[in-house]
Amino acid sequence: MEITTAAWLRARPTLTGSAPTLHPDSLPDDPLALFLNWITTAAEAGVAEPHAATLATVDADGVPDARTLILKDVDERGWAFAGPRSSAKGRQLAARPAAALNFWWQPQRRAVRVRGPVQEASAEESAADLQARSAAARAGVAEGDWVLWRVVPSRIEFWQGAEDRQHVRIVYVRDGSDWVRTWRGEERA
Ligand SMILES: Cc1cc2nc3c(=O)[nH]c(=O)nc-3n(C[C@H](O)[C@H](O)[C@H](O)COP(=O)(O)O)c2cc1C
Repeated sequence: MEITTAAWLRARPTLTGSAPTLHPDSLPDDPLALFLNWITTAAEAGVAEPHAATLATVDADGVPDARTLILKDVDERGWAFAGPRSSAKGRQLAARPAAALNFWWQPQRRAVRVRGPVQEASAEESAADLQARSAAARAGVAEGDWVLWRVVPSRIEFWQGAEDRQHVRIVYVRDGSDWVRTWRGEERA
C-alpha cells in the first residue's frame, strides 16, 4: 500500500524526550546561567554535539539563510561562532550584522533561540580561534579570512516541550543592562 509523504511524516513521533521539572521561582535572573545549565544538562544526558546550532542570517535583499555551525564560546559578551569572511554568512553579516541562533536538545524536549545584533571579535580573538582548530580544520583557510563573531542577545527564548502540549516558554528580553523575564510565552508589551 502506498503511503503519502505527508502521512509518513505525520506518523513520525515528536517530543519523544523526557523534560526535566522546571520551577518558575527557581529561574536565574541572567539567561546566560540558564543556557549553561541547559547545555550541560544536554551533554550529561548524552547529546553528542549539544553545541551545534542553526545560525540564521539575512542577505542584502532581506532574504533569510540558515546553516548549522558550532558554538565557540558564550559569556556576557554574547554567543560566539566562527567561519570564513568570504562565506555566504560572512557576506550576509557584513551587509546585515544581525542573526538568530537556534539550539535543540531532543532528549530534554528543549530548544533555545537567541537573537540580536552581531559584533565581529578582535583580529586577535579570531586568530586565536583559528589556531585552536585542528590542522585539518585550518587547512585551506586563507590568512585573515577566519572571523569570530558574537550574537549579542536582545532576546532569548527557552522552550521546553510537554507531553500534554502545555509547553513552557521562558523569554528574556534585554532592558538596558537588565533582563526582563516572562514565563509561558506572555510577551512584554
Ligand atoms: C555539525 C556541523 C558543524 C559545523 N560547524 C561550522 C562552523 O563552526 N563554522 C562554519 O563556518 N561552518 C560550519 N559548518 C558548515 C556550515 O553548516 C555551512 O555549510 C558553511 O558554514 C557554509 O555556510 P554559508 O555558505 O551559509 O556561509 C558546520 C556544519 C555542521 C553540519
